[in-house]
Amino acid sequence: PVTAVILVAAGSGQRLGYGMPKAAVPLGGEPILLHALRGIVAAGVASQVCVALPEGETGLRQLIEDFRLELADGGPLLTTVDGGATRADSVRSALAALEDGTEAVLVHDAARALAPESVFHRVAQALANGASAVIPVIPVVDTVKTVAATDGSDSDIAPEIVTGTVSRQELRSVQTPQGFSVDTLKAAHEAALAFDEDRAAAVTDDAMLVELLGVPVHAVRGAIQSLKITTPLDLIIAEGLLEGPLG
Ligand code: C5P
Repeated sequence: PVTAVILVAAGSGQRLGYGMPKAAVPLGGEPILLHALRGIVAAGVASQVCVALPEGETGLRQLIEDFRLELADGGPLLTTVDGGATRADSVRSALAALEDGTEAVLVHDAARALAPESVFHRVAQALANGASAVIPVIPVVDTVKTVAATDGSDSDIAPEIVTGTVSRQELRSVQTPQGFSVDTLKAAHEAALAFDEDRAAAVTDDAMLVELLGVPVHAVRGAIQSLKITTPLDLIIAEGLLEGPLG
């Protein structure tokens, strides 16, 4: 299928604490966004890459211009849109800007700048095999429990009480790129426009909107290298990945 990649890079990156958009933060001496773009182009799955950038931000736009010159003939069409207030808003803006005739779309977080080519290929292959929605996942290594705030005398002992233990066997950590048929993702994001503010704030990936439509979401193997660079510790790990045996 004719495939586009939406790269969402319009977040503020406050948790990283650099005082600049996360996509502009240097990793191995180059902005996170540049690593993400190179990874997408190297995977070779997209005829268009549409990047959602923070509105009014000029440095990252310049970076895109420079990268466009770097792209060989035959590389993907590289376009940008202004991102929105939430990640879903940014995805919606980019969806509206895809070329006519685009059949499949991979939505990728710029923060997962080191996602390996193999993951793009697994996601694209599942779409080619007929899936309408596919996500890369990895097993959960920690034991996961639910908790509630304590009340009354219990609060003297500890602030939270355990209410249950979730079976780890059936849990997965979810990554990007997430792949969809364009029609499916557009329908999912249109439905989400009706959400109130609290519900909209609880949307953390695209697949959950597709699940709400009742469309099956398939899962393929992700990669530990696809970590979402969120905290200063993640940046240290990503620097290590660039240099180390996994990089
Ligand atoms: O905030 P979070 O870590 O979930 O962001 C995941 C990705 O979504 C990041 O790559 C970020 O740049 C992007 N994002 C966006 N527009 C927003 C918020 C986040 O493109 N309004």
